[in-house]
Amino acid sequence: MPKFKGRSIVSLKDMEKKEILHLMKKAGEIKSGKLKDVLKGKVIASLFFEPSTRTRLSFESAVLGQGGSVFGFADPGASSAKKGESLSDTIKNVMGYCDAIVMRHFIEGAARRAAEISTVPVVNGGDGANQHPTQTFLDLFTMFEKKGSLDGKVIGMMGDLKYGRTIHSLAMALTHFDVKLHFISPKQLSVPEHYIEYLKEKKIDFQESSVETCGKELDFLYCTRLQKERFFDPMEYEKVAGSYRIDKEALEYLKADTYIMHPLPRVDEITVEVDDDPRALYFEQAHNGVPTRAALLGLVTGRI
Ligand code: CP
Repeated sequence: MPKFKGRSIVSLKDMEKKEILHLMKKAGEIKSGKLKDVLKGKVIASLFFEPSTRTRLSFESAVLGQGGSVFGFADPGASSAKKGESLSDTIKNVMGYCDAIVMRHFIEGAARRAAEISTVPVVNGGDGANQHPTQTFLDLFTMFEKKGSLDGKVIGMMGDLKYGRTIHSLAMALTHFDVKLHFISPKQLSVPEHYIEYLKEKKIDFQESSVETCGKELDFLYCTRLQKERFFDPMEYEKVAGSYRIDKEALEYLKADTYIMHPLPRVDEITVEVDDDPRALYFEQAHNGVPTRAALLGLVTGRI
């Protein structure tokens, strides 16, 4: 049985396949109602140093729906970080108030640092352009729900593959399965070299493509927005803004059963007319954040 109790969840690099599959199973049991009240009596801190809608609110919904309590901040301006308190001091205090900490931070590696300090599990809700493990768990859960298995599947990853942390976590997780990846992005926003090296090491079949050339192969097209806030030079952002889009015409390049996923928020990379297409999965995908995150917190707090 995989061991989760007391463990921080920082990066997909730390996760074994059997652990991911165990988490998926428990998320399914929560979603079906077989497993209930997995956070009864548990207190969760939700520390968001960066804006969020889905991650923060689905975590909070997960805690409340499973009988737990949640407190925290959505804006670091309302915390003593505003007065200059360090992240380590914040963690040293908050860990005394709760059973687990969910944290999003704009600095890459902040979650790892918090986990090193904390005596309670720290769950990474996204750290800069680095990792977003809980997004990946809900992405995988959604993929399993739709296709049953990931082996033999072909996945297109489109958009900002350089700064998109959801892409980095998902690509790492997919190395546990027999998949083929197509990377679809402007040249300047291609997958960082250290992730390419990781994929090679894991012997994953991948290539750079366009929707036009690989669309008829894809089981999933995972689209992401340009991470405007992570560009160092606004001129560089302007050069790639609007350079890719999934609209009604682009749907013609996909198979009748190619699901379109997106971690959201979207800006203009998927037009709203696509929302009514039965292949558009992104809102259903976001809703799966609740059972998936409930399962993860249940596991790390030892209630599952
Ligand atoms: N997908 C995601 O992380 O969304 P939020 O930034 O709204 O949490």
